[in-house]
Amino acid sequence: MQVLTIESTCDETAAAVVTDNLDVLGAVVASQDELHERFRGVVPEIAARAHVERILPIIDEALRRAGVQLADLDAIAVANMPGLAGSLLVGLVAAKTLCVALGKPLVAVNHLHAHIYACRIASGREVFPSVGLIVSGGHSSIYHCKSVFQFDQLGGTIDDAAGEAFDKVASMLGLPYPGGPAISRAAESGNLRAYRFPRSFIKDEDRLDFSFSGLKTAVRYEIAGPGRPDFDSIDLSEQRVADLAASFQEAVVDCLVAKSMLAVRKTGLGTLCVGGGVAANRRLRERLEQAAADCGCDLLIAPLSLCTDNAVMGAIAIERLKAGLVESLDLDVYPGLVRPRA
Ligand code: KG4
Ligand code: ZN
Repeated sequence: MQVLTIESTCDETAAAVVTDNLDVLGAVVASQDELHERFRGVVPEIAARAHVERILPIIDEALRRAGVQLADLDAIAVANMPGLAGSLLVGLVAAKTLCVALGKPLVAVNHLHAHIYACRIASGREVFPSVGLIVSGGHSSIYHCKSVFQFDQLGGTIDDAAGEAFDKVASMLGLPYPGGPAISRAAESGNLRAYRFPRSFIKDEDRLDFSFSGLKTAVRYEIAGPGRPDFDSIDLSEQRVADLAASFQEAVVDCLVAKSMLAVRKTGLGTLCVGGGVAANRRLRERLEQAAADCGCDLLIAPLSLCTDNAVMGAIAIERLKAGLVESLDLDVYPGLVRPRA
């Protein structure tokens, strides 16, 4: 079985050809970072237009690398939720068009479930049931991953996602977009105890939620105080940037590790799967490894190449295809987390 997977939920245009053995025959990701950098965040309109330009060449390139013809495919899979509406639509329209032209089945991919499935692909092991931590630019959530078809949310952010906080704080510190890698790099030479930033809900054993908005404000006050500062005119020394980055990163990591371990204890599940762009963070990976070793739980973190958005993780579609879960051609996009009932 050979499936073409298409990913365009946010600002990466990606396609891959995967098999039912979870072999990756060919995969391509085109990042749009250079288009959004000057805005220090993703601009939805720009993202959607760039997907339109790139989607066909990216699909062609994935097929070429795989050495597979369109006619050889068994299905076309596409991430149709959650994400930016305009971005999602480009991938969905491309997938539907191929399905109509080739007479192949259409399979839907939930982008968040796919981030967890990246752990299954990389480890080659069964990962369900497990606790799943998804930390990306748009989401910070903890799931009880009961099976490949059932993900129950146990908690999530009540305001900003972890990745969004990284991106915004990087902008305040004058670091480039995307902020996560830039903060991680700056933090290497910083003192993580230089500033004591808030860790929301960390002591609340009844909640598996996150809040990063107060943390973001605390960093802002530390840099510029209240009011409407012009961050570009604030001159921070390299060491101060490093110390702020390290202290901020440690606060985020403390919350993510504490709540993941709380979820493992509460559910009694022995496996923790971690995916999403922020899972590429070196300090987070190190601290999760320590915590998992301390509590004797099995930790699976997506490899770096499968943390940020990619189409390989869309191989979760193979499981749906095998179970006969194919979609009709009136499939819609669902920018939020919930697919409304018909
Ligand atoms: O999963 P992803 O590629 O896109 C979404 O689905 O949102 O995640 C992108 C996010 C960005 O906010 C980026 O700053 C963050 O992941 N990120 C990181 C690192 N690499 C990417 N955050 C912290 N440390 C990193 N090394
Ligand atoms: Zn993502």
